[in-house]
Amino acid sequence: MDLIALDAQFHHERQCLRSFFRGISRSRNGQQSLGAMWLFLYSFYCCWHGTPDAVSLRKPKLGDNEMAKPGPITVCVINLKGGVGKSTITALLSRYAFNSRGKDVLAIDLDPQANLSQGLMHQSYSTFIAQQGGTIVEVFNDFLPPKPGSGGTQPLTADAVTELILESGDRRLDLIPSRFDFSDALTNAVRPDPRILAKFLSKNFKSKDLILIDCAPTESVFTTAAYHASDYVLIPVRPEFFATIGFPLLAESLANFQRRNKAHAIEVAGVVINNAFYHGGNDGGPEKARAMASIKQECATHGWHIFSKQMYHSRGYPKLMRGDYRYSGDANLFWTFAQEFFDHIGL
Ligand SMILES: Nc1ncnc2c1ncn2[C@@H]1O[C@H](COP(=O)(O)OP(=O)(O)OP(=O)(O)O)[C@@H](O)[C@H]1O
Ligand SMILES: [Mg+2]
Repeated sequence: MDLIALDAQFHHERQCLRSFFRGISRSRNGQQSLGAMWLFLYSFYCCWHGTPDAVSLRKPKLGDNEMAKPGPITVCVINLKGGVGKSTITALLSRYAFNSRGKDVLAIDLDPQANLSQGLMHQSYSTFIAQQGGTIVEVFNDFLPPKPGSGGTQPLTADAVTELILESGDRRLDLIPSRFDFSDALTNAVRPDPRILAKFLSKNFKSKDLILIDCAPTESVFTTAAYHASDYVLIPVRPEFFATIGFPLLAESLANFQRRNKAHAIEVAGVVINNAFYHGGNDGGPEKARAMASIKQECATHGWHIFSKQMYHSRGYPKLMRGDYRYSGDANLFWTFAQEFFDHIGL
């Protein structure tokens, strides 16, 4: 387990101990004893069970019981505005769920820019591309192309399109990578089946705990494919000028999907504020305040939750994304959001 993720885990225990000692000092002042007793008991409860600060969205699924594993929670990370941190957040949530929550995780790169693939695979990505490894392109084609001596096309298998990023015991952080010519699928005359990804995941990845999908900033058949595969939507936003320009479009795209797929329960898990100026100082000043007001107003219109933990601007993010934990500065605040997010969706 990496030290940074371990530190995030301890952050929670530190908060619990803090409230425990706050309880002791209150009782020493002799304000009351019954209230302090409750505070002690509550602190111990939090240490062992986690703070019930967020209402868990996790819905029991058919077949949920103590014996049967209910199958993965699938979250797509999306905003139709570019550069807001979708790929960074997908990579870091994947790493956190694997390292600190002990989960079996699959990350999927659904963007031809392949930033998530480059972030998680780092230096091995160029070798992987040179060796023509299997990607999300093959998932949408539903077959493996011929290789020298392979005897023509082959049936698609999960192993052929999955890259191992981290492993511990029988748990893995796997990735279905992307590549630049993925966008060709959009220009082809025959539109790919938007249900193909959901079918592929339900056939091959039922035993995973978590599937995270990094979406492209433009709406396409792949956005619909991500919705078909997902339980939840996570929306990163930068508190800047025109921050919410993509929100109405996203709300409409989700509403259209829900209208056409009434049996599919998909929910916005929430909006996360990312790249929110520098930590401390005037906290972004009037520019951020204006953007936050518009974000709050838009979220209230659509009934979207806003996560309380914000991620500030830090040069540590690209480093953390590729698993380099040597010096990450304020990017370490990410782990407190990750904790809040996974508590919220009940993972
Ligand atoms: N909190 C942050 N502080 C500093 N830099 C950040 C932060 N979050 C993301 N970045 C940087 O901003 C750039 C865009 O982030 P990222 O690629 O994750 O956004 P994106 O929404 O996936 O973009 P696109 O829409 O192009 O897919 C990257 O260089 C990333 O390292
Ligand atoms: Mg991206």
